[in-house]
Amino acid sequence: MKIVPGSSSPVLSYRISKMLGSSLVQVEYRRFPDGEIYVRVPEVEGEDVLIVQSIIRPEDWVTLMLLADACEKASDMIAFIPYMGYARQDRRFREGEPLSISVVARSLRSVGLSRIITVNLHSSKSRKYFEELYELDAMPLLGRYLRSHECVFISPDKGSVERVKRAAETAGVEWDFMEKRRIDSETVEISPGNVDVSGKDVVIIDDIISTGGTVAEAGKALLELGAKRVRSACIHAVLAGNAIVRMSSAGVEDIIATDTIENAVSVISVKDLVGESLKEMGYV
Ligand code: R5P
Repeated sequence: MKIVPGSSSPVLSYRISKMLGSSLVQVEYRRFPDGEIYVRVPEVEGEDVLIVQSIIRPEDWVTLMLLADACEKASDMIAFIPYMGYARQDRRFREGEPLSISVVARSLRSVGLSRIITVNLHSSKSRKYFEELYELDAMPLLGRYLRSHECVFISPDKGSVERVKRAAETAGVEWDFMEKRRIDSETVEISPGNVDVSGKDVVIIDDIISTGGTVAEAGKALLELGAKRVRSACIHAVLAGNAIVRMSSAGVEDIIATDTIENAVSVISVKDLVGESLKEMGYV
């Protein structure tokens, strides 16, 4: 199997190719003078290919579509989309809105991408829009990374309890949750409830950190409750705008994330998860 490194996931592509002993295709990327994206994917005719591309910015989606179309002569093609952007718009919240994740799924099918591997979709509601979707769970990876730390895991949101529980079970630590009310895309309100964190080292666990609003508000509440130290860990570190400053100003000391989105905090790799999945599918 050959690995086609997407523009948003070059490091993870490299890690996967090393792990599998597969070659990394020398994709040519450039921009036309007007900003349009150009890609060329050589030497994939008759090969099984794995395209690795997270959808973080709008252009990542376009690039993925172009890469897939450029692989038309491959014998078999599968996409690994570590971070599935637009998955939070998994229903029409207000009249006149699109069902974005369904548009993503349909557009990918239109270029031959019906078999897709991804990591922790924001909600299970999105699954039904895909024809053949393999969803990997990276929560235990967060737990494994924090295993030797004496701490308590906190979910900032009741809806994330099951995820946090899986991470806590792997880490062998206690867990608890708070309640969140979202006011708008940048503002949330956190009700701490009865969490007991006095004098404890706390890690806020979430699937996504986007604007950092959730972690910042949760961090403030935990410090007010007497937590000794507050850190955060997530799978997908989107870190939009001034998220890092926002969390740091709230007293959150560290951000730990996986490489579904590549940046300075992506210290945990999901490569083994995708390797196992490809083995189960018989590709390697
Ligand atoms: C929402 O339900 C998710 O689990 C995250 O809590 C959310 O996406 C975080 O967004 P932000 O960092 O913008 O508060």
